[in-house]
Amino acid sequence: MTRVERTRVAIVGAGPAGLLLSHLLAASGIESVVVDRRSREEIENTIRAGILEQGTVDLLVETGASTRVLTDGNRHDGIELWFDGEGHRIDFPSLVGRSVWLYPQHEVLRDLVAARLSAGQDLRLEATVERVDDAATTRPRVIGTDAEGRPFEIEADFVVGADGSRSAVRSAVTEGTRGDLFREYPFAWFGILCEAPPSSDELIYSNSPDGFALISQRSATVQRMYFQCDPETDPEALSEAQIWDELRMRVPGTTLTEGPIFQRDVLRFRSFVAPHLRRGRAALVGDAAHTVPPTGAKGMNLAIADVVLLHRALVELLRGGDERPLDAYEETAIRRIWKAQHFSWWMTTMLHSTPDATEFDRRRQLGELRSVIESEAGRTYLAEAYTGWPFETGLG
Ligand code: DHB
Repeated sequence: MTRVERTRVAIVGAGPAGLLLSHLLAASGIESVVVDRRSREEIENTIRAGILEQGTVDLLVETGASTRVLTDGNRHDGIELWFDGEGHRIDFPSLVGRSVWLYPQHEVLRDLVAARLSAGQDLRLEATVERVDDAATTRPRVIGTDAEGRPFEIEADFVVGADGSRSAVRSAVTEGTRGDLFREYPFAWFGILCEAPPSSDELIYSNSPDGFALISQRSATVQRMYFQCDPETDPEALSEAQIWDELRMRVPGTTLTEGPIFQRDVLRFRSFVAPHLRRGRAALVGDAAHTVPPTGAKGMNLAIADVVLLHRALVELLRGGDERPLDAYEETAIRRIWKAQHFSWWMTTMLHSTPDATEFDRRRQLGELRSVIESEAGRTYLAEAYTGWPFETGLG
C-alpha cells in the first residue's frame, strides 16, 4: 500500500536551493517536506564552487541560515585577470561597493542541513522521486520510494523541483513543450584540491596561449585550482608532476606553491535553460531550471536568487491566496538567468581557447581583455556581474 501524506510545499532536492527554500518557508510559517535521493554525507561532501555573491552572503546571515560564512569564509575584494604575462586587478568595492566571499558550497550545505534539522524540518533522504503528477491542478503529488524501498506519495499545495540538472520534476513542468535552450563547449576543467598555502591573495583567472587556468583557494592549508582540458580527459591519467606543469605553464610570471594533490575531477561545460520554469502548482529552481558553465561561479548564486523570488511568490499564494507573484515568477527569474548565462558565457569565451582557434581569434581575445581592464566601464561591468546584481530579499 502506498503511504499518502500531505504537506504545504513538497521540495524535491536537498541542495542549497531546496534547503534554503525550506528555511525561508519555515520562517514564514509554511510547512514543507524536503526529499532527496542522496545521503546526508553525500550532500555535505559534494565538491562545488566556492564563491558567494554579496547578496547571497547577506541573505544567509540575515535569515540565520549560516553565520559561519562570516567567521570561516573570506571576503575577497577583487580578482586578478592574467594575460600577456601580467596580472590586472579588478577592485570590486571601489567599482561597485560590493565584494564576494570565498566559502565553499559544501560548507553552506553543512550549515543549512544543521539549521533545518535543529528546527525539526521533515527531511527525507535516500528517497527516490519518480515523478510529479497533477502539476496543473491545485493538488500536485510527488511519487516515489523511500529509503526502505516503500512507495510513497506526497500531496501538496505546491511542488518545487530543486533537484539539479537531472531533475525528476522538470518533465512535469515542461510537459508538452519543446525547445530546451542548450549549448555545449569543446572544453572542460581539470580541478584539483591540494594541501598547500595560497599562491595568491585573490583568485587569478588566466588566459594563456596554452589555455585557461584558475587559481582559487579553500583555506590557509587547502587550495582549489583548475585548468582547461579536453572533456574526455580521464582525471587519473595525469601524474601530479604533469598537473603542476599544466598549471604553471598557464600562469606564466606567477609562482604557484605546490603541495600533495588529494582530489581531482573533470567538470563539463554546459549552458542550459528549461523552456518553462513553472506549470500550475509546480516550479523549478536552480540547476533543475538552468545550468551555467563554471567560469564566474554563478551556479549556486543564481539558484539562491530563484529561491528568493519563489519564496515570496509562495508566501503570497499560500498565506493570502494571491497568485500574481507566482504568475510573475518565470518572467522575473528568467531575466536574471539570462544575464547570468551571458556573464558565464562571456567570462568563458574571453578566457578559454577553443581547439580550432586561429591567431586572429587569440589576438581578438587579448583585445577584449584589454578593453575590459583599461576601461572603468569594462571593469565595472565585470565587478557588477561577479559580485551579483542585487536581489530584493524582501527582508527589510
Ligand atoms: C571557484 C569556481 C569557479 O567557477 C570560479 O569562477 C571561482 C572559484 C572555486 O571552486 O573556488
